[in-house]
Amino acid sequence: MQYGKPSRTALAAAFHRAAHQVLEQGRIFSDPLALTILGADAQTIAHQAEEKPSGRRMRLFIAVRTRFAEDAVATAFERGVRQVVVLGAGLDTYAYRNPFGDRLRIFEVDYPATQAWKRQRLQDAAIPLPSSLTLVPVDFERETLATRLAAAGFDRTQQTFFTWLGVVPYLNPEAVWSTLAFIASLPNGAHVVFDYADPPASLPLEMRASHESRARRVADLGEAWVTYFEAEELHAKLEGLGFTEIEDLGPAQIASRYLPGRAGSLPDKGGHVIHATTIHRRK
Ligand SMILES: C[S@@+](CC[C@H](N)C(=O)[O-])C[C@H]1O[C@@H](n2cnc3c(N)ncnc32)[C@H](O)[C@@H]1O
Repeated sequence: MQYGKPSRTALAAAFHRAAHQVLEQGRIFSDPLALTILGADAQTIAHQAEEKPSGRRMRLFIAVRTRFAEDAVATAFERGVRQVVVLGAGLDTYAYRNPFGDRLRIFEVDYPATQAWKRQRLQDAAIPLPSSLTLVPVDFERETLATRLAAAGFDRTQQTFFTWLGVVPYLNPEAVWSTLAFIASLPNGAHVVFDYADPPASLPLEMRASHESRARRVADLGEAWVTYFEAEELHAKLEGLGFTEIEDLGPAQIASRYLPGRAGSLPDKGGHVIHATTIHRRK
């Protein structure tokens, strides 16, 4: 992050979600506020996205990770979860479309300058702050999430669902692991959904080149990717923290579940989305 400045990659992710509504009609992930929060019209978004066809892969990945997270929140709600924390929320609109209204308490946590910028965007777009939502400014690399959440009224005794989309690659490993340790320490259990990428050295050559050019672009925005994981090592460490169930979709599983036309055409290295929980589910 550039100190004191809002995240530029948050704007890019919101752009991809808006473009997905227009170019794929929200087929994977439908978000009626995706264009509104950007104050953009469909034609302009489509035009800008079509100018960069190489953005399609990232657009679909962002649609998939958001859909995966929101489906998991809905299932957890059915099983009694009433508290959600959206970590590194950017311009995510879940809290403003929350289908469960006041029955689901939501905390949006973000880098202070990004959150201030989002407040302004919401106001400009005439999207009201719902009473179920609390905004919590936190810098994961300089502040303690637990303390800031507690001060904002977070109930650590409640089962809680954390979504953490498009954030882990940008944080140093200490910030990632201290956040996961906090989530795992909640006494009555928690869920977390986040995305991560395989280390660049493990990618096939042709993918490595396109990865490197995307990595350069985000680094030029002042938001470099610094943390990658090998799936097996990550799972072992999550289990060590107390996560008992882990569902990890790599590129091949993502394709077969969400991108039928591309199933079988993707390598098994690249972006992953993972759901880990410390709550034993009855089979
Ligand atoms: C790529 S954006 C993703 C935003 C959103 N989750 C989404 O999927 O659209 C990265 C987000 O991580 C947040 N972030 C990055 N570093 C952070 C830090 N040190 N502390 C708090 N938030 C951070 C940024 O402010 C931004 O909102």
